[in-house]
Amino acid sequence: MLERTRRLWQIQDRLVGDRRGLFGAVADAVDARTVLYPGSYVDIAPSFVWPSVTYVDVDRRANQFFADAAGVEELLVENGVVPGSHTVRFLHADYTDDLDVADGSVDLLVSLYAGFVSEHCTRYLRPGGVLLVNSSHGDAAMASLDPRLRLGGVVASRSGAYSVRTDTLDSYLVPKRDVDITPELLHETGRGVAYTRSPFAYLFERGS
Ligand SMILES: C[S@@+](CC[C@H](N)C(=O)[O-])C[C@H]1O[C@@H](n2cnc3c(N)ncnc32)[C@H](O)[C@@H]1O
Repeated sequence: MLERTRRLWQIQDRLVGDRRGLFGAVADAVDARTVLYPGSYVDIAPSFVWPSVTYVDVDRRANQFFADAAGVEELLVENGVVPGSHTVRFLHADYTDDLDVADGSVDLLVSLYAGFVSEHCTRYLRPGGVLLVNSSHGDAAMASLDPRLRLGGVVASRSGAYSVRTDTLDSYLVPKRDVDITPELLHETGRGVAYTRSPFAYLFERGS
């Protein structure tokens, strides 16, 4: 493994094992094999739990990181993956452009701290597929306005442990203030909406 690969991962994984905990909890609740992660940077933790993940980022360092395929494989094996059993694909691309991914082909779409992923990439989710999204950058709010998506669960975080909840979903996504949430407003502010309850993330299911 290149020294740079190790260093980039150590910085990414500074809350050691945190993302693995998040994705592990989601994997326990969602039936998925293929994952698309636009704006991933070097967060390869999804590959610790899912066998086929496509990562997308415009960043040069992410491109260099994934180009060290042997180093990435070493990180997977260090994290319990059977050698050669998981497929890691990286697209050095802007996710607002057409990606080399078939529409309706992906089981799980990940949107964490990377802008309006749902707006551009929900097309790649299969019917019944799931979007994991947090409210940072306003993408959870954007997803809540999308007629293709409906809230199917939330990811709660307590003392560093993640769990998926599917009860009392009506009590989520309720704005604290009386505002008219529109895509235009979200684009303008580029920020999340303040809700009365704030789970770590949301799970939206794509309808037909
Ligand atoms: C704050 S980082 C978050 C990285 C990772 N999702 C995480 O949670 O640790 C945002 C990443 O999204 C990428 N990004 C933002 N807009 C993008 C776009 N339109 N296409 C591809 N990557 C994008 C940036 O290059 C950056 O690496």
